[in-house]
Amino acid sequence: MNALSPPTFDVARIRRDFPILSQTIRGKPFVFLDSGASAQKPTAVIDAMRNAMETQYANVHRGLHWMSERTTEAYEAARDAIATLMNASDRHEIVITGSVTGSFNLMAHSFGRGVLKPGQAVLISAMEHHSNIVPWQMLRDERGIELRVAPITDAGELDMDAFEALLADGKVGLVSITHMSNVLGTVTPAARIVDLAHRYGAKVLFDGAQAIVHRKVDVQALGCDFYAWTGHKLYGPTGIGVLWGRRELLEQMPPFMGGGDMISSVSFEKSTWAQVPHKFEAGTPAILEGIGLKAAIDYVQAIGYDAIAAHEASLVDHALARLSAIPGLTVIGRAQDRGGVVSFTLDKAHSHDVATLLDRQGIAVRAGHHCAEPLMRRLGLDSTARATFGMYTTREEIDVLADTLLRVREFFSK
Ligand code: ALA
Repeated sequence: MNALSPPTFDVARIRRDFPILSQTIRGKPFVFLDSGASAQKPTAVIDAMRNAMETQYANVHRGLHWMSERTTEAYEAARDAIATLMNASDRHEIVITGSVTGSFNLMAHSFGRGVLKPGQAVLISAMEHHSNIVPWQMLRDERGIELRVAPITDAGELDMDAFEALLADGKVGLVSITHMSNVLGTVTPAARIVDLAHRYGAKVLFDGAQAIVHRKVDVQALGCDFYAWTGHKLYGPTGIGVLWGRRELLEQMPPFMGGGDMISSVSFEKSTWAQVPHKFEAGTPAILEGIGLKAAIDYVQAIGYDAIAAHEASLVDHALARLSAIPGLTVIGRAQDRGGVVSFTLDKAHSHDVATLLDRQGIAVRAGHHCAEPLMRRLGLDSTARATFGMYTTREEIDVLADTLLRVREFFSK
């Protein structure tokens, strides 16, 4: 149990809910510090998906038989759970996609091509990952919609003066920006971003893939227009993502993919679309993944965001203290408001080599550009090693990381 965690947060009990964590890797306890790439799954999620396959599974939304109706109820319960999690006012504002990348591509297609006009701009930031860069580049190249990039400070925070200056001509139709950086851990000032964007006539889409794992996201309190995230980082399955959007905006947007489930009627001459959100959900959805994601959301809600956020804040403090004390180690990103992501470099050692040596001791970190190549260039780096924390991460695991990094450093200095 982490001494700095709130007394109600029993990390040892939580760890027992994640079967994979009890393994040993090459005879060493498995130290999993890569939850930012994808989180492990609790038994509740594994059981929910297995139970569905064993007892309650058919295609949804189309069968009139008992099994289809029950499965539809179980799948649609995920939409309700997502709406409650995000405090959406209307379950029809929850579009279920395949991933956060799917959500951004939907936005680039349906909002970018369907609502924005040539001459308008999309404003992102220098710390976005590729999912929030490439779809907008494709839109720019095809439709003449400008792509603007707000710079960051050396501490890894959004440069708010520059951000406002980029909005000032009123041409930005959409600000699409991370709520928490997957490389720097920076939590962006969401309320100020929304306030400034709306003042200059832009809508706001947050990339919440990291943020929603670490803190309560309330889309009504944030005041944003769209919010995207993915299930697999929130202890749920892969293959399912979310786009929340204000209903009146979703109504204005044309569909993205065509096919079954997203239509009202089809003839060879003309097809008409289903109501939102189904207009954006072509084809058989990720049924089992929806059921699994609902179980993950229930699990997170039962632990509670206050407890999760407090635990992770204490882990970040401990990690920054321990890692900063290692000679030759540089923590990348020093934002005031940050979550459970700590990137670092170690002397001149390549991050891949650092990660490989850590892996030999059973410690899993990610190394590389973290799907954020432009950010690496801004930082003057080609890669970092990155430790990311989940609700099951312990203070002792961070100690193992720090102690092992000291030995890794010795190895490279020989
Ligand atoms: N999934 C990517 C990461 O590891 C973006 O942060």
